[in-house]
Amino acid sequence: MKLYYSSASPFVRKVLVCAHECGLAGEIELVATKVLPSEPNRDFARVAPLMKLPALDCGDGLVLFDSVVICEYLDHLSKGPRLFPPEGAARWHALRLHALADGILEAAVLCRYETAVRPAPLRWDAWVQGQLLKVDQALDFLERNIGDLEGLSIGAVAVGCALGYLDFRYADRRWRDGRPRLAAWWETARQRPSFEKTVPHA
Ligand code: BEZ
Repeated sequence: MKLYYSSASPFVRKVLVCAHECGLAGEIELVATKVLPSEPNRDFARVAPLMKLPALDCGDGLVLFDSVVICEYLDHLSKGPRLFPPEGAARWHALRLHALADGILEAAVLCRYETAVRPAPLRWDAWVQGQLLKVDQALDFLERNIGDLEGLSIGAVAVGCALGYLDFRYADRRWRDGRPRLAAWWETARQRPSFEKTVPHA
């Protein structure tokens, strides 16, 4: 399999953490791929029409995108424990956490583009504040519902990648302040080899 990736992308990290947890990391070749909203990557568009990372070439003619689909694909090939609970309340809690964490990431990544890529005269502060409010409210939800993070599900993997991205790009916002249970959870979770081997770098 080939994974189109960037080492800074938290959505790619989520796929790689799943690959490690599923015992599949050794079967995936990484293809470094540059994507920026302001510089369409036409070569990558032939693989993934939305030009969004990650995309997975499964090796049998099928190319999958985006990270939600790729994570479930890897889980179905898993040689280890399953990250997507098959049914019942555990499934809906895991999928809800996954959606929440992806929402944190979408807001945080959009703000990153707004503040680091968009020309300064075109920046819109009220919009940035609106996105950051989503991040803060989602973190407060996690602090209140910390029990949902018990056990390693796709939801916990996604939350870990979201917290890791906040540490990487938003350390100055100090997300741990006022959220001791979430901070303690991440302190333990981030020591899993799957997270340690996938720490983002610029
Ligand atoms: C970043 O550098 O923060 C980033 C890179 C790729 C995707 C998303 C975010």
